[in-house]
Order: sequence, then C-alpha cells, then structure tokens
Amino acid sequence: MMSDQYAVIGNPIGHTKSPLIHGLFAQETQQDMSYTAIEGPLEPQDAFASTVRAFIAEGGKGMNVTAPFKLKAFAMADVRSEQAALAGAANALSFKDGCIVAENFDGVGLVRDIEVNLDLPMAGKRVLILGAGGAVRGALLPFLAARPAELVVVNRDVGKAKALAAQINADASLAACGYAELEAMGRFDLVVNATSASLTGELPPVPPSVFSPTGAAYELAYGKRLTPFLQLARNVGVLGLADGVGMLVEQAAEAFAWWRGVRPQTRAVIDRLTVPLD
Ligand code: ATR
Repeated sequence: MMSDQYAVIGNPIGHTKSPLIHGLFAQETQQDMSYTAIEGPLEPQDAFASTVRAFIAEGGKGMNVTAPFKLKAFAMADVRSEQAALAGAANALSFKDGCIVAENFDGVGLVRDIEVNLDLPMAGKRVLILGAGGAVRGALLPFLAARPAELVVVNRDVGKAKALAAQINADASLAACGYAELEAMGRFDLVVNATSASLTGELPPVPPSVFSPTGAAYELAYGKRLTPFLQLARNVGVLGLADGVGMLVEQAAEAFAWWRGVRPQTRAVIDRLTVPLD
C-alpha cells in the first residue's frame, strides 16, 4: 500500500516550510505519510480546483492551502467549519469519501502560540489587533474564545473593521476603530500586527502609547526579523517580542491532528525554524 499523501498548495510555493514541518511531525508520531509542495496554477480561473481534484484522484488525503488560493479552496469545499466560514477562507482541506472539508487553523494556531508557547493567557487582558484582512477574519473567533477583557480591531479602512466586528455575534468586549482613536485608548497587554504592512517593510500608523512595557507585541509575519512594528515596540520598552514562527508551526500541528488523529509536539520544530529577531 502506498503511504497516505498530503501536500501544501500555493503560488509561489518555493519557500514553504510545510513539507519540513509535516515531515518532522510524521517522524515524531510515526505516521506513514508523504507530504509534498505543489505550485498551483494561477490561470485559468478553474485550474486550481482541477489541480486539487487531480490530487484527490491520485489518492490525496489532505492539503494545506496558502496564498493566493485560500478563498478558492474554501469555495470548492462541500463542508466548511465555522472558523473557515467566518474567514471565508480555508488553510486546510481534508478529502474523505468524495467529500472536501474546509478548515481554517490560522486563528487557533495563533492563539495557541500566544497562550501556550509564549505563556500569555489572554483571559481578562486588553488585546489590540492591527488589520482587518483575511488573517484577522480567521483570528477573531479563537481570540474571543480566549476571553480577553477587551478585543479591539483597528484598521486604516475603519468600515472594514466595523463590518467584521458586526459580523460576529459578540458581546461588548469586541470593538472596531481607526488608528486616530488609539491615542485615547491607553495601553494594551498584547498588540498583534496582522496587517500585511511588514511584507513591504511598512509600519502601520500605530501610536507608541498602545504598548505596555510589561506586555507583548506579536508580529504575524515569519522570518522578517525586527520589522518596523517590532522595532517600535522594542523602542518603547516592550520586553515580549514575537514573530509568527510559532503560529506557523501550531496551525500545521492543528491540521496534522485533524488529519491523523494524533497531536505532534511542536517545541522542537519551532526551535528549529526560529530565525532570531536580531
Ligand atoms: P490578508 O488577507 O493577508 O490579511 P488583506 O486582506 O489584503 O490581506 O489585508 C491586508 C490588511 O493589512 C488590511 O487590513 C490592510 O488595511 P486596509 O484594509 O486599511 O487597507 C492592512 N495594511 C496593509 N498595509 C498597511 C499599512 N502600511 N499600514 C496599515 N495597515 C496596512
């Protein structure tokens, strides 16, 4: 019998760490499986779905999905988790009995990294998230489940942040605002940069007053070292600085556990992938 096949699909896909991560997980948990990287076609419109279906036809059991295919992966699924539905995007697919199931583990992976690996329980804390794109859509439910005293979503396009908050049936602990309003909002225990600003070396217009020296700053981007956001946090004396390496590994662990029914250890894998901030 051939071992169970999995893959990550994206474009470009050259820099993906997923085959390494899942390979280490499989080794550790002694799972007989293969995990490859597939460069998905950008055109024509339906070529992505055809590629996924071809993988299924060859015996594929599951896929991780990365940019720019998360929306298409969600759209082609037969069954969608609540998490994926709110994000409108899938980062993991499972194939079983001719059925495609969509999940999104980015948010739970992020929360697990913050609460377990970084040992920063969010319950009762003031949490600020920068951005209102796909990354934030996936993170809101898991963040609210962690019961922060306050969860504020800030975005340049305030309407986008407000629409997102309104979409969730949350209590008063969830609020949305623009950057100009942050000056008056005091310090937050945790500030998460979930904008795409760091990918272009930009700094979201966040005032230094939001940071608390005893709090933490979390950069979703991975391997970008001290981004302008982390630099600002460090300059105002924030001791807890983290980038998205832990989230990357934790979302992979969630998918692995979902597919294989066994949860891999993540610490050694995170250590292996960590790029020092400076
Ligand atoms: P993703 O799905 O990866 O989150 P996206 O949907 O394009 O990507 O969202 C990118 C997010 O980064 C948006 O919230 C965007 O803010 P706007 O909606 O106001 O455009 C935010 N963003 C990008 N560059 C930024 C910058 N330089 N400063 C602040 N926010 C930025």
